[in-house]
Amino acid sequence: MENRDNPVRSEIHKVGVIGIGLMGSGIAQVAATRGFDTLVVDLAANIVERGMARIREGLERLVQSHEKSAGKTGIAASEREQILGRLRASTDREELLDCDILIEAIVENEAAKKEVIALLSGKGYQKLLVSNTSSISITRLANVYRYPDRFMGMHFMNPVPLQTGCELIRGFLTSPETWETVTAFCRELGKEPIFAEDKVGFGINRMFVPFLIEAVKVVEEGIMSCEDADKTTLCLGHKMGPITTLDFVGLDTTLAIAEILETELGPSYKPPDLLRKLVAAGCYGMKSDKGFYLWEQGKKVGVNPAVARYQRRSV
Ligand SMILES: NC(=O)c1ccc[n+]([C@@H]2O[C@H](COP(=O)([O-])OP(=O)(O)OC[C@H]3O[C@@H](n4cnc5c(N)ncnc54)[C@H](O)[C@@H]3O)[C@@H](O)[C@H]2O)c1
Repeated sequence: MENRDNPVRSEIHKVGVIGIGLMGSGIAQVAATRGFDTLVVDLAANIVERGMARIREGLERLVQSHEKSAGKTGIAASEREQILGRLRASTDREELLDCDILIEAIVENEAAKKEVIALLSGKGYQKLLVSNTSSISITRLANVYRYPDRFMGMHFMNPVPLQTGCELIRGFLTSPETWETVTAFCRELGKEPIFAEDKVGFGINRMFVPFLIEAVKVVEEGIMSCEDADKTTLCLGHKMGPITTLDFVGLDTTLAIAEILETELGPSYKPPDLLRKLVAAGCYGMKSDKGFYLWEQGKKVGVNPAVARYQRRSV
């Protein structure tokens, strides 16, 4: 257990993040903000540029907040420059090999994740490796790493710069040293560890995904409009309604998670037809400007007319 007077230090200096999508960009931003030398890698230059633009926009909002609040919130412009100075992006995965920890945050697809992990393992990477997977077995992912004892789950919450919780998942072969070091690292990132064992969906998505699925069904069955379904839980004190949350998380990611949960836990996790249709049509949510809602530069501008039409057809 950590001694509060003499907290355990991770001794991690250089952090590698694989994937600069919604989550990877947030994780890289937080790592650089907390003083870590950070490298983030994705597949192509245009993707890397889009991810870096998202990070710069996030930091710009913090600078504006600092200016408006006379320094009470946000960060100073000089701090933003220091953060960006600690952050580098690349398309060359081999550059990750000298990191002290790698955080895998690519698409929620077991084969793709295993391919990246096996590739880095084959190139000689030997240090800590964690996955930000929402639902895939940590033990199965660890099995393609030469050092499964140095592998575990680190499930950040979206948006990473704002959400304080981080689910830490122990794989079957995760060593006590890895567990302790990653727990210390999690605290160094300013995140509150939430401990979980390796069972599909872990704790959070086991509870949260059925809620999102039922919200889709409420809209799909014409019980409520998107806006009213959102309003209900706002009245319960949630900061965001479930339909907006779905657009925010990514409908493609939610579908991938629900499919994994359905396979391993049964039909209560079955993705609704409307969710499948939206993903098939390329409506991934805020990241593609179209999901249940239509989005322009991160702002909601109305309900997707295809969703409204679908509702009318299904009643
Ligand atoms: N979206 C959420 O709210 C959320 C929350 C917690 C965890 N997660 C998990 O985080 C992971 C990433 O989700 P996301 O929402 O950031 O997805 P995303 O689609 O926004 O980003 C995924 C990124 O991975 C990149 N990528 C794909 N294959 C790659 C490879 N082989 N090498 C390098 N980069 C590759 C893609 O180009 C893309 O930029 C998933 O495992 C997801 O389940 C997502």
